[in-house]
Amino acid sequence: MSFPVITIDGPSGAGKGTVCLRLAQALGYRLLDSGALYRIVGLKAFEAGLLNELSLTEQVVADITELTQSLDIQFLPRDTGDVDIVVNGVNVAGEIRNETVGGYASKVAALPSVREALLALQKNMANESGLIADGRDMGTVVFPNADAKVYLTASAEARADRRVAQLQQAGERADYAAILTSIQERDERDENRSVAPSKPAKDALVLDSSSMNADDVFAQIKKFCQQKGISF
Ligand code: DC
Repeated sequence: MSFPVITIDGPSGAGKGTVCLRLAQALGYRLLDSGALYRIVGLKAFEAGLLNELSLTEQVVADITELTQSLDIQFLPRDTGDVDIVVNGVNVAGEIRNETVGGYASKVAALPSVREALLALQKNMANESGLIADGRDMGTVVFPNADAKVYLTASAEARADRRVAQLQQAGERADYAAILTSIQERDERDENRSVAPSKPAKDALVLDSSSMNADDVFAQIKKFCQQKGISF
């Protein structure tokens, strides 16, 4: 038996996290946060001293791949709607969310062998229930036969504004110019890498959320999914 899969791809800060959580709750589906997987590998590779070099040697790539294969990763939803992300027994959900780890993630995500090593884990998440898959290549590579595919994007400036607001709300210091530069650099790497670049699937609904609020985004995606035969 196969379960319905909805893929939501697009750059960081376009609002994917928020809408994916709402979709998962509305439909009772599981949620795959594939960015978290790359963040975990990035963090662990950094901690192992494997991301020090500017360009990664063949040996280092092999070490990062082996490290990826050795990780035991579990997503454990809590009643509050939060998800514990447990790696080798330790909850890293808080630790992986910062810009620095995002940068490490973007580096390891460009390695084909790392992507390959994470493929089965991602595909298996659709084996037990409906799935909302959040990422960059969910509709193009991981779930090419998904029931509904969305590519949610927003201008780099709108995404930087949102990130600043988020940090300020959390009582943290926010430097708009530095955040915008880091978003632009990450986009450049994610969109232009040779393997699984971040781009819309041919059959995806492309939605620009720059001047939309979360309710509008949810409503449009819900309507699109309904047109694809998914009932809420
Ligand atoms: O969505 P995010 O910011 O948590 O993603 C972190 C990094 O991982 C980002 O640079 C892109 C990469 N990524 C990817 O290459 N493929 C995915 N399916 C998800 C994320």
